[in-house]
Amino acid sequence: MKIGIGNDHAAVTMKQEISEYLRELGYDVVNYGTDSGASCSYAEYGEKVARAVAAKDVDLGILICGTGVGISLAANKVKGIRAAVCSEPCTARLSREHNDANILAFGARIIGIETAKEIVKAWLEAEFQGGRHQTRVDMITAIEAGN
Ligand code: RB5
Repeated sequence: MKIGIGNDHAAVTMKQEISEYLRELGYDVVNYGTDSGASCSYAEYGEKVARAVAAKDVDLGILICGTGVGISLAANKVKGIRAAVCSEPCTARLSREHNDANILAFGARIIGIETAKEIVKAWLEAEFQGGRHQTRVDMITAIEAGN
């Protein structure tokens, strides 16, 4: 499975550590940047990963900024993207099982690397449950289609 990963300047080190962890777990990782500590906009990298997920260039995406908020807001503007900000593994798992989240976001200034790894593992191991959850996800898609 191919995972697209992106971040702003606040999360370069965490992105590198999570990329290495993903490779250890057996995933292919595509890095959309940034790899520089110079100040940049989370919107640029959120959009890059979101467009890659929407185009199916990668299967799923992971986005990291200071809080996970800005970069997920940007990603969620791309059609077909459901980016979820998670600070613990339970929400991460449920964001896949119930919401079919196709991008996971978190904040390098909010959580530590071990929690981030737990979140990533829980998210990637979970599967969308469909059924009543599909109906609800379809309603989100309908809102998007109406815009
Ligand atoms: C960058 O300083 C910071 O604003 C950004 O990483 C993120 O936290 C925004 O949501």
